[in-house]
Amino acid sequence: MRVVSGMRPTGKLHLGHYLGVIKNWLELQEKNECFFFVADWHALSTKYDEGLSLKDLSVELVKEWIACGINPEKSTLFVQSAIKEHAELYLIFNMITPLSWLERNPTYKDLVSQPEYKKKNNAGFLTYPVLQTADIVIYDADIVPIGEDQKPHLELAREIVRHFHFIYKTEIFKEPKELLTKTPRLPGIDGRKMSKSYNNAIYLDSSDEEIWQKIRLAKTDPQRIRKTDPGNPEVCIVFEYHKAFSDVNEVEEIKNACMTGSIGCVECKKRCAANISKIISPIREKKASLNNDEILDIINKANKKAREIASKKMQEVNKIIF
Ligand code: TRP
Ligand code: SF4
Repeated sequence: MRVVSGMRPTGKLHLGHYLGVIKNWLELQEKNECFFFVADWHALSTKYDEGLSLKDLSVELVKEWIACGINPEKSTLFVQSAIKEHAELYLIFNMITPLSWLERNPTYKDLVSQPEYKKKNNAGFLTYPVLQTADIVIYDADIVPIGEDQKPHLELAREIVRHFHFIYKTEIFKEPKELLTKTPRLPGIDGRKMSKSYNNAIYLDSSDEEIWQKIRLAKTDPQRIRKTDPGNPEVCIVFEYHKAFSDVNEVEEIKNACMTGSIGCVECKKRCAANISKIISPIREKKASLNNDEILDIINKANKKAREIASKKMQEVNKIIF
């Protein structure tokens, strides 16, 4: 099957990305033809005025993917803005997509309801899912791994495809299917959404000391004062991390020990941090061993491969319309 997915280059990857996206990609690349790309045009839709250095961020992102084990020999790791055909197909799709479909998109409604975006209601954000549709269908993707929040975008993609087929009496595109992440979203150490702006994320290039300092501050069961108090792991953020990163036997043991008051939170956190270190340290080391020229080389090769497929598709599309 052909798999296509993109990620916006907005900064360093954290454990939430690893669990929610990268682990999925790692599995998919073993048995499928995968195209993973840096959605740098999409990053502009909200961040056009933040002076981001998108070229550097893109190289950095691909480097992190590879450090995590995404294999450029197996998967095509390209950059969206290098493939102009995405923009061409986006233009065509914009012509046929009713505004009302875009205005009812929950992601859009959500963003424009936030006060800081009221004055920034740009056309590119409204048409974000139209570009996403082009990204996907230009490669005849069968499967698109995404988070729950992106589901409406995939529905819209299928609607746009069907609409195009109806208008032009053709069946040129595949209707893509989403593949939703199985893992629940990992909270930040304070229990809120993991995000750079809350300073509650653990990054994939953290040192063991940085990991410990974050876990040390993580929220535990607030009812538990002394280490002999029975605790409730279900309300503890550290336990969420254990469930995500410790093996099942250890999770079971921690759960019992917490509920019977036979483990202290400090010890529990130390074990949690150690297990996270086991996952992060090879990623951190691999990242440090990769140099930018090497990554640029990988991207250029991948761009070429993606461009060939996309331009062929675009020629067929143009033949139908013009
Ligand atoms: N919108 C996606 C996100 O924010 C990123 C993205 C852009 C994407 N184009 C895509 C994902 C195509 C899957 C397929 O996560
Ligand atoms: Fe959380 Fe562990 Fe403390 Fe229980 S012992 S409250 S699971 S940190």
